[in-house]
Amino acid sequence: MAADLVYDPYDYEIDADPHPVWKRMRDEAPLYYNAEHDFYALSRFEDVLAASVDHETYCSNRGTVLELMDAPMQDPPMIFMDPPRHTHFRKLVRKTFTKQQIGKLEGRIRELCRGYLEPFVGAGGFDYVEDFGAKLPVMVISSLLGAPEEDQEQLRIWSDLTLHREPGETGPSAAARAATSEMWSYWQGQIKERRARPRDDVMSQLIQAELELEDGGTRRLSDGELYAFYLLISSAGNETVARFLGNTATLLAWHPAERAKLVADPGLIPNAVEEILRFESPSPIQARWVTRDVEIHGQVVPGDSKMALLTSSANRDEREFPDADRFDVARKIDRHVALGFGIHFCLGASLARLETRVSIDETLRLFPTWEVDEAGLRRVHTSTVRGYNKVPITC
Ligand code: HEM
Repeated sequence: MAADLVYDPYDYEIDADPHPVWKRMRDEAPLYYNAEHDFYALSRFEDVLAASVDHETYCSNRGTVLELMDAPMQDPPMIFMDPPRHTHFRKLVRKTFTKQQIGKLEGRIRELCRGYLEPFVGAGGFDYVEDFGAKLPVMVISSLLGAPEEDQEQLRIWSDLTLHREPGETGPSAAARAATSEMWSYWQGQIKERRARPRDDVMSQLIQAELELEDGGTRRLSDGELYAFYLLISSAGNETVARFLGNTATLLAWHPAERAKLVADPGLIPNAVEEILRFESPSPIQARWVTRDVEIHGQVVPGDSKMALLTSSANRDEREFPDADRFDVARKIDRHVALGFGIHFCLGASLARLETRVSIDETLRLFPTWEVDEAGLRRVHTSTVRGYNKVPITC
């Protein structure tokens, strides 16, 4: 491997445009090793897919965020679990997130989109992420979970802060730690209230749900397990959708002919959602713990190593997607890994697809064209999601 081929997920410059580095990794070092942060990485589609389904070799119970793997959590969320524990937890929420159940939210999502976007008609411009993309998913998830509307903006701010990393730092910042602790107190209060007086919301359903145990018995979830669930669903559902919508605003502005196709034929929007997910995947890295020695591309990866599955790179792999760097809303996409693959496949996939489809639909209906003020673009810097938190547009 060439000495100048360096992939550092914490490097802001690389994060601004990792695609050239990822392309070199796919071509020159399909099994990559970063000595500084001590992790391996797979970047080709076939390799990422194979590792995603082999959860015995590539496990999640040490965490799936590179910098969190050295200190496993006490009450991990299910995304950091392996079977059989993962299977039992996933079963608890499977029914809440089916396409059919989630479909019932379409009217509410459309109403929220209109509420955010309509005031900007004729205003000349606004920030697509700050004023819309970051707000929508918090409202959707929080109302699904049952958090009171007046708390939802604060939840969004905490959720953003918990993921923040200072330049050069791999651990959470002081602000991130403070937000984590405030959020924990907040949810403890919510759990206590619902234990006393259950309501018709997902939180109350989880409090009453019976978790299956290895010995065939069942038990209720502890406060810590409930909190981990709430935190997972809200952080997984807010950040990713906000980043997706930022990518949507930039990609469609930078490819006006593709945008015009969607204005002319809104029936293409569901396919455009898949192409946007593929082209700039909001969750680009899924880390795994390697449980045994395994040979990949002629090299042995020792057991007890960290492996980064570069899903965003895999989605640009020319071996899987012809002309992979071309953005094409009508591209035929049979499969991609932007929502993961295998047992941890995104629980919120139906919700993500519904929110993004309705958002694009309502946006194009009100603003068939817009331009991005590139000087005003700002990125979030986390090792788990990639994208913008500020996308000023003129329309
Ligand atoms: C565009 C938006 C989204 C993207 C790109 C995305 C991406 C992903 C990816 C890549 C995974 C797999 C993680 C792994 O393999 O370790 C995942 C899992 C998950 N996602 Fe999403 N997600 C999105 C939206 C949502 C939403 C709206 C929710 C809300 C419920 C959600 C909840 C989850 C949960 C709970 C898991 C863990 C599933 C498990 O461990 O079984 N996601 N997501």
